[in-house]
Amino acid sequence: MKVKAAVFYEEGAPFQLEALDLEDPHPGEVLVQMKAAGVCHSDWHLMTGATKHPLPVVPGHEGAGVVVGTGEGVTRIKLGDHVALNWAPNCGNCFYCLRDRPSLCETYVDPIWAGTMMDGTTRLSKAGQPIFHFSALACFADYVVVPEECCVPLAKDIPLEIAALIGCAVTTGVGAVLNTAKVQAGSSVMVYGAGGVGLSIIMGAKLAGAGRIIAVDTNETKGDIAQQFGATDILLAGPDTVQSIKHLTDGRGADYVFEAVGLTAVQEECLAAVRPGGTVVYVGMSPMGSNTNLPGAIIARQEKTITGSYYGSANTARDFPQYAEFYRQGQLDLDGLVSKRYALDQINEAYAEMLGGKIARGLIVF
Ligand SMILES: NC(=O)c1ccc[n+]([C@@H]2O[C@H](COP(=O)([O-])OP(=O)(O)OC[C@H]3O[C@@H](n4cnc5c(N)ncnc54)[C@H](O)[C@@H]3O)[C@@H](O)[C@H]2O)c1
Ligand SMILES: [Zn+2]
Ligand SMILES: [Zn+2]
Repeated sequence: MKVKAAVFYEEGAPFQLEALDLEDPHPGEVLVQMKAAGVCHSDWHLMTGATKHPLPVVPGHEGAGVVVGTGEGVTRIKLGDHVALNWAPNCGNCFYCLRDRPSLCETYVDPIWAGTMMDGTTRLSKAGQPIFHFSALACFADYVVVPEECCVPLAKDIPLEIAALIGCAVTTGVGAVLNTAKVQAGSSVMVYGAGGVGLSIIMGAKLAGAGRIIAVDTNETKGDIAQQFGATDILLAGPDTVQSIKHLTDGRGADYVFEAVGLTAVQEECLAAVRPGGTVVYVGMSPMGSNTNLPGAIIARQEKTITGSYYGSANTARDFPQYAEFYRQGQLDLDGLVSKRYALDQINEAYAEMLGGKIARGLIVF
């Protein structure tokens, strides 16, 4: 079938809107009619070359839609299911899956980063030339073929726009708090970067009962937005940020510091902002191949812990429905996270506005 997609051809060039060919699902694959796809910064990292990927590619990895076709042997997913898409499919059986670390699943890493389906081929093409799929999803298209493992069915009363957000920002941010850091009630939490991911970290910290939630952003308008989601204090990023955080935490620094920007300089600053014995969580994706200077002398003497968090250390089959339930109960304000909706044709504008820093989360709606 023909699909309309936003294709990314080379570093620095805008998305091209094109008609592509999409093959029917192969065995174990599912055809999904997209309803919403989030404007996440991780797709932009492909455009700048911070994340290396085979090109041309259809990005988009935060999405949800309705199942309209299934390949042979698909058993878990049915026609008509509403599915949130998981960008890090897991096999359930490998070393990491068996140790409850499915976001590190080793079975699918190679095809995912090759930009293909699990069999090493693409379903997308143009004039017979393959077009790659980002994270086995390629959500910036009106229809997608994805591996069955990428589909997490959600109850039909959950709006598909909300399901899309659960597909990346919410799972990444809330999961970093609940699964990776396991933030303790009453503790102080600092978050660098109040985009879709950072705001989800703030919501997760509130859910975990954090006492103080300090949001730091370079953009002034993000302060008001962060407060709506539960930040108790807001700081404009600048040379005095660490001093201000110490001032707010009896001179010690925060118990937990989350980096949700993806800059090595900010990663380094997190170490100064966390208290002795505290935990730094790197959520933002700094450029592949970049290095972060970590002061080992201080880390050892002050027992600071640094950990990465990939997809919120999620078990998506368990966590997506859980976050949907938190939304239903009013514990996660996911409606408030959507600041603007765009048509697929407006995708370049959507990314320009994300970079402008005033948007909580933009959503492409189909
Ligand atoms: N770990 C994961 O699994 C995972 C998943 C999704 C996204 N990410 C990464 O998380 C990061 C954030 O993604 P997003 O979609 O929320 O991005 P976004 O662009 O919506 O938000 C980033 C925010 O950081 C702010 N910012 C920029 N420079 C800053 C600085 N020096 N100090 C403080 N704030 C600063 C911006 O103003 C903006 O509000 C990206 O690097 C993205 O790739 C990681
Ligand atoms: Zn994302
Ligand atoms: Zn696995």
